[in-house]
Amino acid sequence: MSDQKIIDGKAFAEKIRTKITEQVASLQKHNGFTPGLAVVLVGEDPASKVYVRNKGEQTKASGMASFEHKLDASTSQATLLSLIDQLNKDPKVNGILVQLPLPKQIDAQAVINAIDPDKDVDGFHVVNAGRLATGGQGLVPCTPYGCLLLLKDRLGDLAGKHAVVIGRSNIVGKPMAQLLLNESCTVTIAHSKTKDLPAEVRRADIVIAAVGRPEMVKGDWLKEGAVVIDVGINRIEKDGKFKLVGDVDFQSCIGRAGAITPVPGGVGPMTIAMLLHSTLVAACRQHGVELPK
Ligand code: GUN
Repeated sequence: MSDQKIIDGKAFAEKIRTKITEQVASLQKHNGFTPGLAVVLVGEDPASKVYVRNKGEQTKASGMASFEHKLDASTSQATLLSLIDQLNKDPKVNGILVQLPLPKQIDAQAVINAIDPDKDVDGFHVVNAGRLATGGQGLVPCTPYGCLLLLKDRLGDLAGKHAVVIGRSNIVGKPMAQLLLNESCTVTIAHSKTKDLPAEVRRADIVIAAVGRPEMVKGDWLKEGAVVIDVGINRIEKDGKFKLVGDVDFQSCIGRAGAITPVPGGVGPMTIAMLLHSTLVAACRQHGVELPK
């Protein structure tokens, strides 16, 4: 029974990537171009290196072109901005992603806002945040976009559902709340200063946990049948071994939840699938062609 409760993000992401591979092949055959994604890594952050490697591998596996730029940790903001300028002008590059976090000598928001908004496949540019907030056509941050697809796959129409988003980052919490609002959910954004978090979560039909606190959300906080999406990826030491856990205490939540994403294998794989999707969408818009069916 509980197996049906587990939302298999890995399988769902694989289906999306298969479709994208077919769409890329169709663009090459019928429209004569190959979508391209440039990924920029500054420095040696170990987690970022793994993410960037996975992004590059999956981009190539889908048939798209992958352009990887690895810069030294001491790179100046001016050098990075000059690379962004070059990528903005390159017609082979349809999507640009600068892996975060950046070294402290670099103003991350200034770099993000230097990316052509129509190539900003992370959806972090202020223009894309504005488009999302005002119902315009832009590019949507990948992780919340992936969460939304998992929710719609489970629940169908989300209108009228009460969603509680825990976390208010620009990368996940805020765009997630905006996407849910666009689906006509009633949305609460909770954060570290929220007075009674368990009471807020107890009202939720949908819980999105994106705070970066290992196993924080407990089973007795949940309304029976709530759908729980765990965005957290925390590496903790348990019984002398390192393991990955989310922001949700999976063991105590699975009994009460209607459905729940595991960590790993839930939201994580969806993020890269949505990155490839956004690159495809950006490429089609830049070439003035429809997304292949
Ligand atoms: N670092 C952690 N998550 C992300 C993401 O979604 N995009 C980028 N660019 N960097 C990240």
